[in-house]
Amino acid sequence: MRQLVKTIKYEVLDEADFSAEERMLVDAAKEAVKGSYSPYSHFSVGAAVLLDNGVVVRGANQENGAYPSGLCAERTALFAAGANYPEQKVVAIAIAAFTDGHFLPEPITPCGSCAQVMAETEARAGLPLKIILYGACGSFRIHGVGSILPFAFSLK
Ligand code: THU
Repeated sequence: MRQLVKTIKYEVLDEADFSAEERMLVDAAKEAVKGSYSPYSHFSVGAAVLLDNGVVVRGANQENGAYPSGLCAERTALFAAGANYPEQKVVAIAIAAFTDGHFLPEPITPCGSCAQVMAETEARAGLPLKIILYGACGSFRIHGVGSILPFAFSLK
């Protein structure tokens, strides 16, 4: 028997720690919550994806009366980026969540399905994906999906 260890790493940031580009992407994710359709959960999530050419693609969670037919903000944004800019590498994603009239104090972390889509996005780009999880009282910055989903599935 061998015991192996995988380490995940993340940084905890104040607003002042963001670079100008990160600030812009977080603001886009916060703005994106306005596109949330969440009449069932009343939990609005916004995501903003930064492409290599500087374009920002936004997404928000889209719910459905047939609950499993809805989709999270992260996949809405990542799939829109892939569909509209298939040649562009995705370099970063920011995520923000809003409920009861305010942004959540703590960051939310992506669900397993969104993390798996992030893993494929990263592999497709061939670059570590920067992930910024916004929290009103502190955000996380993560370099690479390995620290979100250490055992992502890959066919390769
Ligand atoms: N949701 C997201 O959009 N992203 C996440 O990372 C977690 C959850 C959505 C799904 C559903 O519309 C609502 O939040 C409540 O789970």
